[in-house]
Amino acid sequence: MKTIAVIGLGGRGSMYARRFNAQGAKVVAVCDINASVLEHVGNTLNIDLDKRFNSAEELFACGKIADALVVASQDRDHYGHAKRGLELGYHVLCEKPVSPVREECEELADLADKMGVHMVVCHVLRYAGFYDSIKKVIDSGEIGEVTNIQQTENVGYWHYAHSYVRGNWRREDETTPSILAKCCHDLDLLYYYTGKKCLSVTSIGSRRIFIPENAPEGAPLRCMDGCPHYKDCPYYAPHVYYKPTLHSIPIYFFRGAQVTKLGNPTIKQVKEALKTYSPYGRCVYHCDNDVIENQTVLCKFDGDVNATLTMNASSRGCFRRVHITGTKGELYGRDIDGKFTLNVFGKGKKTVKSKVGQGHLGGDSGIVGDFIDLLENGKMAKRMSVMRETLMSHLMAFAAEESRKDGGTTKLIK
Ligand SMILES: NC(=O)c1ccc[n+]([C@@H]2O[C@H](COP(=O)([O-])OP(=O)(O)OC[C@H]3O[C@@H](n4cnc5c(N)ncnc54)[C@H](O)[C@@H]3O)[C@@H](O)[C@H]2O)c1
Repeated sequence: MKTIAVIGLGGRGSMYARRFNAQGAKVVAVCDINASVLEHVGNTLNIDLDKRFNSAEELFACGKIADALVVASQDRDHYGHAKRGLELGYHVLCEKPVSPVREECEELADLADKMGVHMVVCHVLRYAGFYDSIKKVIDSGEIGEVTNIQQTENVGYWHYAHSYVRGNWRREDETTPSILAKCCHDLDLLYYYTGKKCLSVTSIGSRRIFIPENAPEGAPLRCMDGCPHYKDCPYYAPHVYYKPTLHSIPIYFFRGAQVTKLGNPTIKQVKEALKTYSPYGRCVYHCDNDVIENQTVLCKFDGDVNATLTMNASSRGCFRRVHITGTKGELYGRDIDGKFTLNVFGKGKKTVKSKVGQGHLGGDSGIVGDFIDLLENGKMAKRMSVMRETLMSHLMAFAAEESRKDGGTTKLIK
């Protein structure tokens, strides 16, 4: 049985650890800088005490102690953690985004080649049934040559507020721009569907909602400091995190550890954190966020294929809408529906159904299964998002940001 070490035991890292154990590998070492999280996850997974590390340096000082390393720390740490892992000869499964710096991404792709190991990036949507089925239809030639793709990523107003206004991904200087953090998946899919190099990118974007000018009169800095608008505000922290109303979306059940920075918090601890110290207790109009809320990216691919991607914070649900046209037909649908319409011109319409699993619609278990297969049998699935190939998504995001900041001028990808 192949063995796994995991760095970063938050939402993603602990999920990967559980799935690796459930899907036929064994997690033998874990690392997190948060002692409470390390203890909780270490106990849950029954990890030996001497294989629980409070820093990546301590883990790496032991040399190579597993077959593969999962890097699920925060965005700016991925490069350093993946680099040390590759140098020690680990196969690496690295969370996206890999790095906001082009040279660092390229260096990791080269290093994996040099060490003769695999580095796979967690572009998990490729492994979800909906996208898998789309790719199969495209590859079958049923819609002919792809001519155009329109993709929309609807982030969800509550998800956006949690992650990109109050949370970890709110500031570009601390993490990465939202078009890279949230949409490298989508940019990867545009590339994956077409299988062609992206030649140029043009982009515009804006922030209109979560800005101080929109704070309602008398709104304090923290929701629980007597906000007079608590009944009507969809972002009122208690309603979002632990005391849902009819119309609020409670996200406590999967974000409690992020809110409190405790491994296994109680509701009382969540409440106290929101009231006193947690960044998630802040008024959404009084945060220090600066990442873009809605952005449109125009892409020109080799072979005269055009694509647009729009990322949008203002939706109730979190879903992606896809419309792909080809020389002989089209397909369109929403990923959360687990089905899309296939229209081959002159042959009528049909619905193509796919399985919708848990965790990125089944993508999380899909990538873990394929990665275990790679470790055990050396079998590289066609959909595997290896670092060198998946680099294109990051180059597209870098060019989109450059374009947006430069007033929407077109940037060539070299
Ligand atoms: N593939 C996807 O679809 C997807 C979805 C969500 C998040 N992500 C990415 O996954 C990564 C983790 O996200 P998350 O939601 O689990 O965040 P999180 O904040 O819940 O977890 C991150 C964990 O890493 C730990 N950590 C931070 N710095 C560390 C360090 N230097 N050494 C060891 N541990 C460290 C933190 O204490 C925390 O427990 C991020 O890069 C994020 O962008 C990817």
